[in-house]
Order: sequence, then structure tokens, then C-alpha cells
Amino acid sequence: MSPLRQQINEAINFLRTKTSATPSVGIILGTGLGGLAKEIKHEVVIDYADIPHFPLSTVESHHGKLIFGTLGGKSVVAMQGRFHYYEGYTMQQITFPVRVMSPKGGLGVKTLLVSNAAGGMNPLFTRGDVMLITDHINLLGDNPLIGPNDDELGPRFPDMSEPYSKELIALAEKIALESKIKLQKGVFVAVPGPNLETRSEYRFLRGIGADVVGMSTVPECVVAVHMSMRVLGFSIITDECFPDALKPAKLEEIVATAMAAEPKLTTIMKEVVRQL
Ligand code: HPA
Repeated sequence: MSPLRQQINEAINFLRTKTSATPSVGIILGTGLGGLAKEIKHEVVIDYADIPHFPLSTVESHHGKLIFGTLGGKSVVAMQGRFHYYEGYTMQQITFPVRVMSPKGGLGVKTLLVSNAAGGMNPLFTRGDVMLITDHINLLGDNPLIGPNDDELGPRFPDMSEPYSKELIALAEKIALESKIKLQKGVFVAVPGPNLETRSEYRFLRGIGADVVGMSTVPECVVAVHMSMRVLGFSIITDECFPDALKPAKLEEIVATAMAAEPKLTTIMKEVVRQL
């Protein structure tokens, strides 16, 4: 048994002392985007600190709880609070919860919904917009799949032609239209942070094909794809990153924008889960 498999099993064995739930949907909530957790009918809530091999969440605006419950009539598990590379965690630590959630890991989650706060570089995007992630660029300079591969968890060289499920994107678009919520679509680029970008960096990131930039999501998506899970990703545009008209960004404003836009995201995500 690989060391990773061993750790997954230890986490699962612990969780099984708390719940026998077999959620089909996993949800990772980004900075300022924890509101969906309130919509979940909580059954069991577990502190990350209690789960073997789960890292601890350090960012203040994050909570650090694994929530088991129901949403839109489906059994779900949600991470309230996620781990970022800039906090000093390894890619393997950041993605460990996704391993645990997956069918091969043990909880049985086949569909992963992910949200994040991101800077908008596409000039057609406005602060407060919701964007469906159609593809990503990994500029983190690291990858959670580096190291020995456990072939029982997934392939050495996973395909990345459709990291975000086209079928789920179509479903989310349909729901947004019905709910009269404006939905952007675009490419997310992940950078390590923690500083925001310089004008020249935004210009570069836009130039290589990205619409929005953030510091999360890509590791979790890569590991979910490695384990054959379907991923649906959303960004909330929390600040406008137009290189030639850049204004100083304040963390409080970024979090406040995320929180203000959050109900739109909650409406879409909840309905996606219901219609899965
Ligand atoms: N850059 C990187 N991450 C971010 C940004 C940004 O401008 N805004 C919100 N998260």
C-alpha cells in the first residue's frame, strides 16, 4: 500500500466513526464564498483539526470544517475553508481532502464543485461577476501529481483535454439563464501569490490566454481529474485587473465583493446539485 493510500485510509477510518454518509457531490468554497454552507442541511460537521492528515486552515476568512449534509435533496460533503500554496502547504497537503472525498479514496464523491475569488483581466468582466471556469493554466510552479504515482488512484499522465466537465458547464449555463443571473465563461490562471500581480504580470497573464487570475483551484482540479472525478469551477470577479488602469486592491474589498456576489453563486450551485 502506498503511503498516500495509507493516509487516505486513516482519514476515512476516522470519518467513518463520525458518519456513514456516502455523498455523491463534493463542494470546495473559496474566500468569502462560504454562504452555500448555510444552505446545506447539516448532518455532521467535523473540524479539519480532528481529521488525520488534514492540514489546518490558516487564513482568517476561512473556517476549516468538513460539512456532511444534504443540498437540493442530494447527499453532499463541503469543505468550508481550503488550503493555499502560499500558506506553505505542499500540493499533496492541499489536495488531500479531494483524495479522501473521491470514489477511489473512500467517500464516493463523483462530482466536485469548486469556487474561488479571482481578479478579472478580461476587460468585458466587471467586479461582482460570476464566471464559469472552462479551462485553466497552471502557473503555480508545482503540481500535486509530482512524485511516485499510485496507479490504483489514477494514471501517471492524466489527460487534461476536459478538466472542467462540458456537461456540467452546459447545465450551469442553463440554470443561470433560467435564474436570470449573468454568467461569464473563461480561463482561470493559478499563480502562487500571496502578493497580487504587478501591471506587467497582469498584462502577461492576459496575453497567455487567461481571463481571470487566482491562487487556488488548479491543484484540486488536477487531483480530481487524476481520480476520474467531474469538476465544475466558478470564479467570482473580486477586482478588476486591467494593467493600464490598475487601482490598488484591498483584501477587505476583495472579500466584501466576494460576499456580495455570493448569493448568485449559491443559487446556481444549489440548483446544479439538485439537477445532477
Ligand atoms: N490576483 C490573484 N488572486 C486574486 C486576485 C488577483 O488580482 N483577486 C482575487 N484573487
